[in-house]
Amino acid sequence: MIRALTIFFLQKKRHIRYRILSDISYLFGKPKLIQPTLFAGKGKIFFGANVVIGCEKSPFLYSNYSYIEARNPNAKIVFEDGVWTNNNLVIICNESNITIRKNTLIGFNVEIFDCDFHSIQPEKRKESSGISSPVVISENVWIGSNVKILKGVSIGINSIIANGSVVSSDIPDNVIAGGIPAKVIKKI
Ligand SMILES: CC(C)(COP(=O)(O)OP(=O)(O)OC[C@H]1O[C@@H](n2cnc3c(N)ncnc32)[C@H](O)[C@@H]1OP(=O)(O)O)[C@@H](O)C(=O)NCCC(=O)NCCS
Repeated sequence: MIRALTIFFLQKKRHIRYRILSDISYLFGKPKLIQPTLFAGKGKIFFGANVVIGCEKSPFLYSNYSYIEARNPNAKIVFEDGVWTNNNLVIICNESNITIRKNTLIGFNVEIFDCDFHSIQPEKRKESSGISSPVVISENVWIGSNVKILKGVSIGINSIIANGSVVSSDIPDNVIAGGIPAKVIKKI
């Protein structure tokens, strides 16, 4: 009992700290935050019903936080109903949309970006973020832990992205895809 209360209050303090550090311009909806989460940026973040961020029986819960940023005013991040994510989720949407459709599951240490954040041109690399391009993760997808999802990518309904993959091009519906870069391994 004493242990449970101590953990509760220590975590509560961390949740409050990251709430104070959050500076998001527009946040709609109320996700269940198991892990402390920092919401940043001048854009918009929308949560549907029953969205959960963080997992109790999983690494990083006590040492880290999830980071969700809609960087510029035209950046929009949408979590539809029933999306569940494990700890250490990082999403940065520069100036397009990142959409995670209903009931998608996301493992720990997952990164999702709509942009490279630096130009590939050497002379513009510090000044330019490069092109932003929307990301769509369809309904009922399962993203394994340690996966990176890069700009402009769509992942099809029910598909699975294997642990540790880097997704740099579209993945169709109903497949398992994996590797760097992620390729279709088999149909489900
Ligand atoms: C994708 C996954 C579900 C596949 O499981 P499976 O259907 O049992 O697949 P298998 O182990 O039979 O592997 C099938 C093929 O995919 C390959 N593969 C499996 N995982 C892979 C990975 N992470 N990256 C690249 N290739 C992978 C296998 O090498 C095998 O290739 P082969 O047919 O050439 O031998 C599983 O490998 C995985 O990544 N699970 C995610 C675990 C996770 O991160 N959970 C989140 C916790 S919150």
